[in-house]
Amino acid sequence: MRNHPGEAVEMETELQNGAEARRIVRTAELADIPAMLRLINGYAAQAIMLPRTELELCEGLRDFLVAVDNDELVGCGALHFYTPHMAELRSLAVSPQHTRSGVGQRLIRELLEQARQHGVDIVFLFTYVPGFFHKLNFQEVDRAALPLKTWKDCQRCPHFQACDEIAMSYLLTPGAEIYMSAQPPTPEEIALEGSPLLPILGQPRILDKSEP
Ligand SMILES: CC(C)(COP(=O)(O)OP(=O)(O)OC[C@H]1O[C@@H](n2cnc3c(N)ncnc32)[C@H](O)[C@@H]1OP(=O)(O)O)[C@@H](O)C(=O)NCCC(=O)NCCS
Repeated sequence: MRNHPGEAVEMETELQNGAEARRIVRTAELADIPAMLRLINGYAAQAIMLPRTELELCEGLRDFLVAVDNDELVGCGALHFYTPHMAELRSLAVSPQHTRSGVGQRLIRELLEQARQHGVDIVFLFTYVPGFFHKLNFQEVDRAALPLKTWKDCQRCPHFQACDEIAMSYLLTPGAEIYMSAQPPTPEEIALEGSPLLPILGQPRILDKSEP
């Protein structure tokens, strides 16, 4: 079963230094949480990702895929649904010792496949590394054009007063752009969730690295 916790969704056998190494992309398990926290919050400490708490990872665990190399967690990423048409790719991180070996790309491809299977029309994300996502055919979009509910996480972001992330999207169905429009919240939504607080947009920050 593809979404059984801990089940491999993709498996590949590689030869590394003459020894056979096994790298797997699979759904996350509760036991992965300490390593996911170290990975995500290591980058958050450098202000390149939003920090996550143990509670948040427990609550959102079923959104996550992890990449494991010889039993070591080397990457993670999540697909989070916002509307019946839109989902966000978030908390994508590859451990510094394993970057530039295809882990990030494999996580994204598998998360996009999950989005397809769920009938999502458009996937978006906020990032400082647009070059990485351009290679995977994501397009930059106007941050202000995203539906208001997609800004929910921003309220606890340290950059709320000067949002410097770049918004990007990937269309999974033809004409999916129509789901991008920033509709004002309905009175029912305001009654349920309160008025949305929007971040102040600052200069975009780009941390792309040049080719090795
Ligand atoms: C960004 C990140 C996820 C990339 O993961 P990765 O496993 O190193 O990426 P891959 O090895 O799959 O690279 C895929 C392609 O993107 C390119 N790429 C990778 N990182 C890049 C970067 N920082 N800038 C520009 N291009 C990059 C690679 O050269 C490769 O290109 P190729 O297919 O032409 O060879 C990883 O560097 C990371 O965790 N960074 C810190 C956290 C972060 O910024 N997360 C993104 C939050 S939205």
